[in-house]
Amino acid sequence: MNSGRRINLSCLMVGRQIVRAHCAERSLHCRGIALIRATSDEQPVQDAQPRADFPSSRPLPDERRILWITDLHLADGDLHGREPIAQLRHVLAHFKRFHTDAELLVISGDISDSGAKQHYWLLRDELAAAGIPALVLVGNHDDRGELVEVFPRPESVDGFVQGHVDVGNWRLIGLDTVSVDGSNQPSFCERRAAWLELTLAGAADKGKRCIVFMHHPVDATQIAQVLDDTVLDAPELTTILQRHRERVELLAFGHVHRAITGTWNGIAVCCNWATSHQTVYQARVDSLCKEDVYRSPRFAYLRLLPSGVQVHLRSVDWEEAYRGAKDGVASMI
Ligand SMILES: [Fe+2]
Repeated sequence: MNSGRRINLSCLMVGRQIVRAHCAERSLHCRGIALIRATSDEQPVQDAQPRADFPSSRPLPDERRILWITDLHLADGDLHGREPIAQLRHVLAHFKRFHTDAELLVISGDISDSGAKQHYWLLRDELAAAGIPALVLVGNHDDRGELVEVFPRPESVDGFVQGHVDVGNWRLIGLDTVSVDGSNQPSFCERRAAWLELTLAGAADKGKRCIVFMHHPVDATQIAQVLDDTVLDAPELTTILQRHRERVELLAFGHVHRAITGTWNGIAVCCNWATSHQTVYQARVDSLCKEDVYRSPRFAYLRLLPSGVQVHLRSVDWEEAYRGAKDGVASMI
């Protein structure tokens, strides 16, 4: 859709002053996030004129934006035909260039393929260099103890990697679904249930809408590489989420390395592509997909709107190729 309007980007401004101005203007709570804002002198233009409103379109009033990646599988060198560290740097560079208005990055587990602490330090350094605040969750490939040492979360209890971040009227909740015995099976327990109930009740007190992020899916995916016995099947979780169904607008998970959307007991669900290697939909395992078409790191860009949440599942290279090809050409969608 071409709005027929353009925004003058001749005066891009970056830095903490803009953060403060942005926060004051919208009465928001930010955490020193570097933002880029356009000047407001919009000029009407005719259709089929160049779109000048990227790197990112301007948020609507009351809109907030966040980013979401999952399954980084950081490893030294090659993994399944890719270099996960390079994939991570590629996607973070894309965020710095095109998504500077996002207020938070959620990373839903499988940070390291082997659970090596050095990968958590690497991620922390890369996030600091990119200037992106992040909510980091644990996956079945991770070592929870090592991860917590590098990304301590004050809210977490008994060593679980959990926490929440409020962005405007939204509460973004990260839930730990990894076993405590080191097995590959997902897990939930009374302590995590109590924390989730408390966090959702707190959101209710403040009138916030919620998105719950976790590593494991809540229902069978029928994707062989992932094995459906790694689905989180926890009646306590179902009970809590059903109790807060009006408030929980989306369950967001990783683990599957493939995009899936739908509903689960009346709640919208979304599974994100991995930043590392992807899976194909097949009933029997033969090989991981190594074709170049799947090589580009994927991510999700979430628009938090008064009407609900939009999840845009994107490929870094496709986005950049499109933007390059369309530079100076009117948008066709
Ligand atoms: Fe994974």
